[in-house]
Amino acid sequence: MARHLITSAIPYINGIKHLGNLVGSQLPADLFARFQRARGHEVLFLCATDEHGTPAELAAAKAGKPVDEYCAEMWAIQNEIAKGFGLSFDHFGRSSSEQNRKLTQHFAGRLADEGLIDEVVTEQIYSQADGRFLPDRYVEGTCPNCGYEDARGDQCDNCTIQLDPTELINPRSTISGSTDLEVRETRHLFLKQSQMRDRLDDWIQSKSDWPILTTSIAKKWLHDGDGLQDRGITRDLDWGVPVKRGDADWPGFEGKVFYVWFDAPIEYIACAGEWVDAGKGDDWERWWRMDKGADDVRYTQFMGKDNVPFHTLSFPATIMGSNEPWKLVDYIKSFNYLNYDGGQFSTSRGRGVFMDQALEILPADYWRWWLLSNCPESSDAEFTWDGFQAGVNKDLADVLGNFISRVTKFCNSKFSPDIPKGGTWGASEDALIAELQTRLEAYNAHMEAMEVRKSAAELRAIWAAGNEYLQTVAPWSTFKTDPDQAAAQIRLALNLIRIYAVLSAPFIPTASARILSDMNTLDTQWPTDIRTALTALPEGHGFNVPEVLFAKITDDQVAEWSERFAGTRD
Ligand code: MF3
Ligand code: ZN
Repeated sequence: MARHLITSAIPYINGIKHLGNLVGSQLPADLFARFQRARGHEVLFLCATDEHGTPAELAAAKAGKPVDEYCAEMWAIQNEIAKGFGLSFDHFGRSSSEQNRKLTQHFAGRLADEGLIDEVVTEQIYSQADGRFLPDRYVEGTCPNCGYEDARGDQCDNCTIQLDPTELINPRSTISGSTDLEVRETRHLFLKQSQMRDRLDDWIQSKSDWPILTTSIAKKWLHDGDGLQDRGITRDLDWGVPVKRGDADWPGFEGKVFYVWFDAPIEYIACAGEWVDAGKGDDWERWWRMDKGADDVRYTQFMGKDNVPFHTLSFPATIMGSNEPWKLVDYIKSFNYLNYDGGQFSTSRGRGVFMDQALEILPADYWRWWLLSNCPESSDAEFTWDGFQAGVNKDLADVLGNFISRVTKFCNSKFSPDIPKGGTWGASEDALIAELQTRLEAYNAHMEAMEVRKSAAELRAIWAAGNEYLQTVAPWSTFKTDPDQAAAQIRLALNLIRIYAVLSAPFIPTASARILSDMNTLDTQWPTDIRTALTALPEGHGFNVPEVLFAKITDDQVAEWSERFAGTRD
């Protein structure tokens, strides 16, 4: 039995995420976690909300709530929606937790002790009208790179360039709109990442099995321009982890907090502590400390491509720099972007489908199947309503749903709602079994390698093989001349339904559970030998004929939804 630590990039607290966010990290991470559990491995799957920094403060201000209250409410909402999508986190934590505060301060102290932190006097924008410094998103202005007028202090949404607030042309405060801004000096901590460049470079070089999308982004940051820059890890803000050196105060840094990107990845570790403190586990160090049993853990991270630099360089710099035996990531699976109907999903403009809305209109499994089977793996992908309708109707309704319904209904009408006796398997069955055995092994290999689209394609082919078998042996005709032979065929097909439910569970967990319950079985054993697995449900075993499993998406629904989600959320 192997041990898998799996994390998904932790979503920002400010608002409900859209389907592009979901498919870029949480959903494929869930697929992998479910697969590894189904194979009998020990899994710790963690996610949390990313609650600090200016996005949280701004969203709370907009909602007219104190930021801690806002975060608590949004966490509860995101937690419910995650459940609705069947995301099987062992714990859904919060980066504002006590555990993360302690650990973040601990890491900062360790890095300082190792001589990896500089205190630097920097120039930041100060607003007279607001009486405070304006870091990151508290300033907007014209992008010096592309001229876009609403660029944010940390990044331009138009050309994606990373910015420093002082670089913006015609800057203005996002709090008051004031343009009465000045540059003032303020002291900040910098992590000397540049000193770890060679160590990070060697480490990335050793990861020859990582996806190119991951390593190419890391290498670009290591080698382009001036190479890896030292990084400011503190901010003049109220909301966040107070700057401390371990347990001790940090003179000159009273009233300042750590930068959100410093504490957020540390939450991956702290979350395991939250999991234990919530009474769900009894030893988190066994997953995170190489000196306390984590040496046989395989750690996989899932994220969108914009997150890759922080996970390949910044967070590893924190871990390595601490000079303590923390577990480093073993594999980083990264994703491109999912676009929405000819443009981008946009949180600020409410363009596209958001997770809560998706669940309002259709069951989670429809989304899970389409998003995973079309995920932006080797390039950006696009959600269109026509594509979604076609994918769901064909794969889920016509192929999987139809197979299950034909087989159970036929058996019920010609025999009884029990697995029928009689007949023997011959050449057609041998051929099907051989094909399924080959496909099962391919499916396992793709799932193990996190090749999400290839896994979905193989699963679809496994479903299709059942329909082709039915077409070939035609039990409805066999029945007229040789009912025993028809019984043997339908016995195979009914057993195949159980196998389909088991193999499909990582993709469509709710439907799978329903199918297993209709088949009246608790046997969720992942098949190894198909021939054996096809006898799991014995002759005489009773089942229920399922209700319609997957209703087709109609043209009217598509027309309504394309209009509803074209802009501004209601
Ligand atoms: N909140 C970030 C985002 O949604 C991801 C943070 S991942 C972590 O892009 F590494 F910081 F944890
Ligand atoms: Zn720009």
